[in-house]
Amino acid sequence: MCGIVGAVGHKQCSDVLLDALKRLEYRGYDSSGIVTIHDSAIALKRAVGKLVNLDLALKETPLLGDIGIGHTRWATHGGVSNENAHPHVASGRVAIVHNGIIENHRTIRARLEAAGHQFSSDTDSEVLAHLFVEAFDAGLDPAMATRQVLDEIDGAYAFAVMAIDHPDLLIVARNASPLALGIGDDACYIGSDAIALSHLTRKVVYLKDHDYALVRADGVSVYQADGTPVNREAVIVAASPGLVDKGGYRHYMEKEIHEQPDAIAHSLAAMTNEYGRLTAQMSDEALRSIDGIVMVAAGTSHYATQIARYWIESLARVPVACEVASEFHYRQPATAPYNTAIAISQSGESLDTLMAMRHAAVCGLQTIGLVNVPSSTIAREADFVLPTRAGPEIGVASTKAFTAQLTVLLCFAVALARAKGQIDEARAEAIHAEIQALPSLVGKALGLFDAIRPVAHQLSQAKSALYLGRGALYPLAMEGALKLKELSYIHAEGFASGEMKHGPIALIEEDLPVVALLAADAVMAKASSNLREASARGGKIILLSEARAAAEVDYASAVITVPDVDPLLAPILIAIPAQILAYLTAVEKGTDVDQPRNLAKSVTVE
Ligand code: F6R
Repeated sequence: MCGIVGAVGHKQCSDVLLDALKRLEYRGYDSSGIVTIHDSAIALKRAVGKLVNLDLALKETPLLGDIGIGHTRWATHGGVSNENAHPHVASGRVAIVHNGIIENHRTIRARLEAAGHQFSSDTDSEVLAHLFVEAFDAGLDPAMATRQVLDEIDGAYAFAVMAIDHPDLLIVARNASPLALGIGDDACYIGSDAIALSHLTRKVVYLKDHDYALVRADGVSVYQADGTPVNREAVIVAASPGLVDKGGYRHYMEKEIHEQPDAIAHSLAAMTNEYGRLTAQMSDEALRSIDGIVMVAAGTSHYATQIARYWIESLARVPVACEVASEFHYRQPATAPYNTAIAISQSGESLDTLMAMRHAAVCGLQTIGLVNVPSSTIAREADFVLPTRAGPEIGVASTKAFTAQLTVLLCFAVALARAKGQIDEARAEAIHAEIQALPSLVGKALGLFDAIRPVAHQLSQAKSALYLGRGALYPLAMEGALKLKELSYIHAEGFASGEMKHGPIALIEEDLPVVALLAADAVMAKASSNLREASARGGKIILLSEARAAAEVDYASAVITVPDVDPLLAPILIAIPAQILAYLTAVEKGTDVDQPRNLAKSVTVE
């Protein structure tokens, strides 16, 4: 995830900005840059690759000035290049850095280009710089200009703006992407998190979604979306914050749930080639040689494999077996027709998964490691690597790594299907477009916290709960149940809705919470009648569903809807309310959300 830093009032600030960027390296990046104002002119340095390249460029020609902003970029819109690296400058007067996605950037860009603005990058972010130029040209002051810009843009963002016309302030705003303001003695700072600022100040103000602020050397003025000034209290962060901070959220898990639009967008970018097509990081020839896939993983990652099986088999017509890693390792599997193993692991260190991947290699299968930690053992030992770019996941319960895994697996399924001639370019492109829309839909689903809170309150009173889903939502039902039990210690089981009548329906009793997952897919009608049976026997149905599927249901006691989406992507989108429900239930129960009892983040024992 991109990193943002900034300083105002700090003598020759480019050195401290570079230090701040180094502290954000953990988030991952492929290019970087810093811009300052000196002698009424904007001075810019950008570099592709590691920060050492930016450091070298700055040593050659130092940037002077007491106000500046900097950025580490992970490409989403536009390839990795100097031109696409941030900061972006428009008309030599306004510089911006941005984290997130401006969803309506194409429309805005077309309007601005028609009005004579010249763009110099392929990014969505550059529109921000031009929008501020336009607003200042219209005579608006910084606060009014910011409101006008915020009114026009859609999407997730944290951004910072610096303008020649206002050389004593930084303008910042956030919605769904983190941003912290640091208050120093004679200077103020901004950073994607408090760690970026830990060498400068411990006094930090966290902006809330839709806030914007004017940051000057002597303090900050924060405004709510409607322009009303608001007081966001400063907090003193720990002297040496950990590797990653909570960004003003109560728990890492809550923060990581909110990071999913970014995690998905960056994982999608990692699976997109220089021609803008989905890729599986392997040649088409290598893909064509895949006859069958064994997927090995544990816990949440195992449920991701089970959802992916629906995609890979239906799109690419390649047989898939999903194996619990700890079981596969000690079986003597008959591997035909499988010639490829995919080991899926957030940490890349789960010993069960590593051993299963090694076992697959011994059985003669080529191995693909799908990991979130690129330096992990699984990544180093696999023949091929598929990366998720979710950034560090600290909460023990996996959230953003799960949806990032699903994103990468769906991209892989599309690339495999195309290489095998099972789908044509048009279908591949149509699915690609759906995946591109996903970060924004997930952003909308993140607005469900308030709607889910009373449902979580009810659920927290239960001793037991069932989760039901059909088709690709069946593994998500098991994942939802795992989230609930590990976080809130409430017993929960996930079942295939159609299996209920073969036994589990005996568990239904008056008021038993039944969390029902529903999408407008090919099995909706059948899934719905399975749920009706549970309801008729007294089960209290909590429906997590797409809006149009929910319209068919009249028997639920609570209905939580996500936006309508292509059925292929429904498991990714419906995962969001399932995570929020488990999170809020655990908060209600007062359990240790980030470190549930008996659990470790990375399980390195068998
Ligand atoms: C549950 C959870 C675990 C992990 C499992 C595998 O929320 O996080 O079930 O998914 O321990 O971990 P990785 O993916 O690191 O191999």
